[in-house]
Amino acid sequence: MSRETTTKEPLIVIASNRGPYSFKVNEETKELTATRGAGGLVTALGAIGGTYDVLWVAAALGKGDVEWVREHKGQPQVVDDMRIAMIVPERRRYGLYYNTIANPLLWFIQHELWDTPRQPSITASTWEAWREGYVAINRQFADAIIDVVKDSERPVLIFPQDYHLYLLPHFLREKLGDKVQIQPFLHIPWPGPDAWRILPEQMRTELLTSLLMSNRIGFQTKTDAFNFVQTCRFYLPNAHSYGSRDSIEFQRRTVSAVGYPISIDVERVEELASASSTRLIREHLISSIGDYRIILRVDRIEPSKNIVRGLEAFRALLQAHPEHRGKVKMLALLVPSRMEVEEYRTYLGRIMSEAGRINAEFSDAFYEPVRIILGQNYERALAAMQFFDVLLVNPLTDGMNLVAKEGALVNQRDGVLVLSEFAGAIYELGEHVLKISPFDVYGTAEAMHQALTMPYEERAQRAAALREIVQRAGVKEWFSRQVDDALAGMDRNRTQETKAEA
Ligand code: G6P
Repeated sequence: MSRETTTKEPLIVIASNRGPYSFKVNEETKELTATRGAGGLVTALGAIGGTYDVLWVAAALGKGDVEWVREHKGQPQVVDDMRIAMIVPERRRYGLYYNTIANPLLWFIQHELWDTPRQPSITASTWEAWREGYVAINRQFADAIIDVVKDSERPVLIFPQDYHLYLLPHFLREKLGDKVQIQPFLHIPWPGPDAWRILPEQMRTELLTSLLMSNRIGFQTKTDAFNFVQTCRFYLPNAHSYGSRDSIEFQRRTVSAVGYPISIDVERVEELASASSTRLIREHLISSIGDYRIILRVDRIEPSKNIVRGLEAFRALLQAHPEHRGKVKMLALLVPSRMEVEEYRTYLGRIMSEAGRINAEFSDAFYEPVRIILGQNYERALAAMQFFDVLLVNPLTDGMNLVAKEGALVNQRDGVLVLSEFAGAIYELGEHVLKISPFDVYGTAEAMHQALTMPYEERAQRAAALREIVQRAGVKEWFSRQVDDALAGMDRNRTQETKAEA
């Protein structure tokens, strides 16, 4: 559905590595079909098309995407309720950008995952990946956006998403000047200055100075925003915060760092959770798992999600509290991810061997303590979230963690949320969860025990409070706040320009 637009209505440009749709060629009919993309970022932003006039620029990732671009001669197309455009990156460059720089280098720095005595080694090939991959792909994104917006009469608000596109503000500002608002949102944590030592000075400076070409930068939490301000002060000699915790002055521009905690599309999640197809999956899961109390986790297979320590904690629970043996199962729905990156492959191996160890130690003819289901299926995840007794969310660090919010919203057993103190969600949900340190295997096991033995009234009260918090602030509000701030920023700029001209 295409929308009528006026010259006053802002054009919202979203740029992200993974787009909202991926395209597949049907082998028989040779037609292209669109599938909604997966992952937190896409799910969250996918909700806004009906509200704003959106152009979403992403990378063509598979053959079907490339075919789609070719079929439409590279021109943006309306799909459902937004316009989509895709850049077609050269394969080698894309691999360097995605598999060497974005994941793992930047992702690992920002989640503080590097085991520094051993890794990473920044070699000539990392530098090549920076220049020929990361810089080049960012430039390609910028060129595609510039092409569409340069002559726009309407207010243009550009929202680059995440760590793949840190250099976009620089390239955009260079060509578009101050007439557009540039407002990146970073979905992942921003650690304090120390973590950024790993990145060589030149890369670090390019990255920070580019981000400071934005008008404001959105983070998941105030802590991330504060860390960003500190990082800029620490590494850029001419960046000053003059005592502010959430803004920085650099090259005569004041850039604010703002916390916009992301959320989920409440109506859509509720609708999907109660759909008859999801109910069917739920019944099937329950009958295949059996009548047990369930400790659930739902994660991408990802070292920062701390899945192995979660399993170790479950083993510690069965050891320390034998009354749970034969009665409680851990169900892990795990989505394979970034298997091209070695650390991710190794991590999957560690998960499977720890799960195997627990099953070998505690199973009997009827009872299998750990059940792992691999694969991506959002409906299945929502189905499982309805019947957990305990939801374990124990990341080492996490921008927000939407599973915590989805689980709180759809659960029907007054389940208890055991949540890492380093997940962004702790700021909103912390009061009603059992808070754990992700490193503390013993403490995590004890929290699971406490959750399993908690009196019914307390569980019900906590679950109701969590559900209400999630229902109150959905993803549409999250994005509207950013658009409102960008528009207000644009108005302020105009007023200043008018004053300067007078
Ligand atoms: C997770 C993170 C997002 C990130 C995405 C990239 O969902 O929360 O911040 O953008 O991963 O995942 P991908 O599968 O595209 O590498």
